[in-house]
Amino acid sequence: MLTGGGDCPGINAVIRAITKTAIYKYGLRVYGIEDGFLGLVTGRVAELTSLHVSSILTRGGTILGTDNRTNPKRYYTGTGSDGEPIFQDVTDRCLATIETFKLDAMIVVGGDGTMACAESLIEAGVNCIGVPKTIDNDVEGTDLTFGFLTAVETATDALDRLHSTAMSHHRVMVCEVMGRNAGWIGLHAGLASGSDVILIPEIPFELDRICEFVEGRMHRRRGFSIIACAEGARAVDGKQVVAAHDPTRPEPVRLGGIGQQVAAAITGQTGIEARTTVLGYVQRAGPPCALDRVLATHFGYRALELLVSGARDRMVVWHHGGLDDVDLRAVAGRQRLVPPDDSLIAAARAVKTCFGD
Ligand code: F6P
Repeated sequence: MLTGGGDCPGINAVIRAITKTAIYKYGLRVYGIEDGFLGLVTGRVAELTSLHVSSILTRGGTILGTDNRTNPKRYYTGTGSDGEPIFQDVTDRCLATIETFKLDAMIVVGGDGTMACAESLIEAGVNCIGVPKTIDNDVEGTDLTFGFLTAVETATDALDRLHSTAMSHHRVMVCEVMGRNAGWIGLHAGLASGSDVILIPEIPFELDRICEFVEGRMHRRRGFSIIACAEGARAVDGKQVVAAHDPTRPEPVRLGGIGQQVAAAITGQTGIEARTTVLGYVQRAGPPCALDRVLATHFGYRALELLVSGARDRMVVWHHGGLDDVDLRAVAGRQRLVPPDDSLIAAARAVKTCFGD
């Protein structure tokens, strides 16, 4: 098994569930690959025993390590004389590692990017079972990824706290949350905290609408506003704000900075004091909440059951309130965004949440 992409709370719970089910229920041997696909390319693999996974259920991060820079099909090997990055297909090196350690199948724990990497192994005949993981909740085919619920708890707690200081100073408090191109964290944490404005990538905003709304709240003597702003949010006539661009990475763009821009624009247009808090990596750090532990354990168990039943190239999913599985290739590399007609958005609008549109 390997864990790829950005880490999130609950990965260790999955590792534990897979390892214990394999050993105790089926008498199988389990190998952990270090640092995601990088470890598969470089041959860093070690057997996992029940001792390795003891006491890790509640721990954040991943005991295997992870990496979001390696795609075996496009492995970065250096920069050419023209300054352009050079990539190489190193799938054969992955296959050599699989051969060396006599691995019958791979369990790949990751987000859309990791599932896309698994596709190249599937094409080469390796059976891959996927387990969807990410705080962003944006993996196609599943209603829920583990890690998301913990991130929503963390973001909600921060937004709740910002209320008191916003109220005391009669300010607009913008809280920038993660989620890449998907607004799931912003939408859920915004709703859970009763944020006045929620800005998500799927609903481009107009600054005028936001300003009218926060000014209205000032005049109604609720002299403050809380804005939950997803890092991927953008204005109708603007682009997503990019914090860094690295063409050597599978996902070259790192988002960040929209919260600051929104706060500055509100102050510029209305004169109301606005401040920004960027939550950042605390959202994917630390122990998983109880439901993420449960979901991760359920996913890990199901992944093992699929393998043992002879299934090939499936990804475990949570769909319509229950466990299921889908063709991994059909969902690999695809992002699940918030549908603008989602009933949660309708519910938020009904309680007078402004989306800036
Ligand atoms: O996909 C998880 C995530 O935390 C996103 O929400 C965020 O945009 C991105 O990873 C940050 O990536 P990195 O770990 O490369 O900074």
